[in-house]
Amino acid sequence: MSRDVKDMPERGETILRLSNISKNFGAVSALTDIELEVKAGEVVALVGDNGAGKSTLIKVLAGVHQPSSGTIEFCGSNVTLESPGKALELGIATVFQDLALCENLDVVANLFLGHEMSPWSLDEVAMEVRAWTLLRELAARIPSVREPIASLSGGQRQTVAIARSLLLDPKIIMLDEPTAALGVAQTAEVLNLIERVRERGLGVIIISHNMEDVRAVADRIVVLRLGRNNGVFTPDSSNQDLVASITGATENAVSRRIERKTGAPHETSGRPA
Ligand SMILES: Nc1ncnc2c1ncn2[C@@H]1O[C@H](COP(=O)(O)OP(=O)(O)OP(=O)(O)O)[C@@H](O)[C@H]1O
Ligand SMILES: [Mg+2]
Repeated sequence: MSRDVKDMPERGETILRLSNISKNFGAVSALTDIELEVKAGEVVALVGDNGAGKSTLIKVLAGVHQPSSGTIEFCGSNVTLESPGKALELGIATVFQDLALCENLDVVANLFLGHEMSPWSLDEVAMEVRAWTLLRELAARIPSVREPIASLSGGQRQTVAIARSLLLDPKIIMLDEPTAALGVAQTAEVLNLIERVRERGLGVIIISHNMEDVRAVADRIVVLRLGRNNGVFTPDSSNQDLVASITGATENAVSRRIERKTGAPHETSGRPA
């Protein structure tokens, strides 16, 4: 199960490009004409208010929902992600918010569940070695790979779920709210892990409501609002611009509020990238 580096796009090359992706649920337009690009070795944060379409977009890329229109280009070819299996086979892995781990099984069993190294005779030793190697590469702090999931912290569980998705050698990994419900130290651990994943040359899409986390780890911040693209920012874009883009407040309204607070005329800085 070694990584086939030949298949991996060069750092900075586009892995994924969405053009004009729309998704309707009956009369509800969840996504309208979405454009999104993810490069190898890049972390893209997908942000937006509740109902902005983030999860729907992730589900389209995970092969759970079929887009109503638009094209998905993956490693230079147009693809149809007709099922979750197809998305995984191409190299698009998803860590959903519920993590889908088995509490009573240990770390090794959870890592290999469903893709055991030799299905007819479980090679426990080989799987344990592979588990340790991967966790060490990710600088993960897991006390023992024979520990049941139930005894791990939230951050450690997130680590196991991310490591599990890496075993399939994906080119893109999508994380839905990986730091929600984590404490400060555990959040830092997961953000470090995301950096390790980026160093491996993967493209990462992260959904988060936490702007601090987003700024700490993302190379680009893509804002969705009411199912549409509403701006692309960098981590050093101003908070006002980012918040205005997420909430739909006009820049003037935000500036007026800042002027009222500070008494000084507000100059907008940090234009969208
Ligand atoms: N299966 C579905 N059937 C009908 N409408 C749906 C379905 N899934 C999502 N929607 C609608 O699509 C829109 C986008 O929802 P989505 O869950 O993608 O938003 P989100 O950005 O993930 O929000 P949150 O931050 O609350 O998770 C919402 O109006 C939602 O009601
Ligand atoms: Mg959601």
